[in-house]
Amino acid sequence: MVFPWLCDENGKPLDEWQRNLAESDDAHLLINACPGSGKTRVLVAHYLHLLMTKAEWDVGAVVAITFTKKAAAEMKERIGKVLQHIAHEVKEAWRRRARQLLDHLPEAPIGTIHSFCARLLRRFAIEANLAPSFQVLGDLQASILRRQVCER
Ligand SMILES: Nc1ncnc2c1ncn2[C@@H]1O[C@H](COP(=O)(O)OP(=O)(O)OP(=O)(O)O)[C@@H](O)[C@H]1O
Ligand SMILES: [Mg+2]
Repeated sequence: MVFPWLCDENGKPLDEWQRNLAESDDAHLLINACPGSGKTRVLVAHYLHLLMTKAEWDVGAVVAITFTKKAAAEMKERIGKVLQHIAHEVKEAWRRRARQLLDHLPEAPIGTIHSFCARLLRRFAIEANLAPSFQVLGDLQASILRRQVCER
């Protein structure tokens, strides 16, 4: 039987090499493959494998870091679509778990290293001696600030 989280957002089962990687519980996995070969497909399935098979974990238990915001948005969207499929599965336990994960997907730590660091600093703002409402400087603000500091 192919678990529904080992299918992609179109309901298509992963290939065997993709499934082996997605189901692996190895702490260190490197997926190095050519463009468009299915790397993100494997990562989405691996993410869902971890959360669908470990009922005691919440979405905060798996941190997914991407290089760009665009890649993070793609991951979240594809994870959401697979969860939508699982939320209509026959097996009640899978449906319930998928709906629970879907409810919490918006706050799941899937993002860039910058957004992960900002999340950590906001969470521990007092320890970091920061206002919890701090903002990350944009490129323009950063260059203005840099110039002001250099001119002093
Ligand atoms: N085994 C497969 N069978 C059919 N379609 C597949 C398979 N693997 C991937 N695809 C499809 O190929 C496309 C590219 O897959 P995916 O985005 O996962 O690749 P990628 O390696 O992450 O690409 P990129 O290098 O652009 O990030 C997607 O539409 C995906 O659904
Ligand atoms: Mg990709």
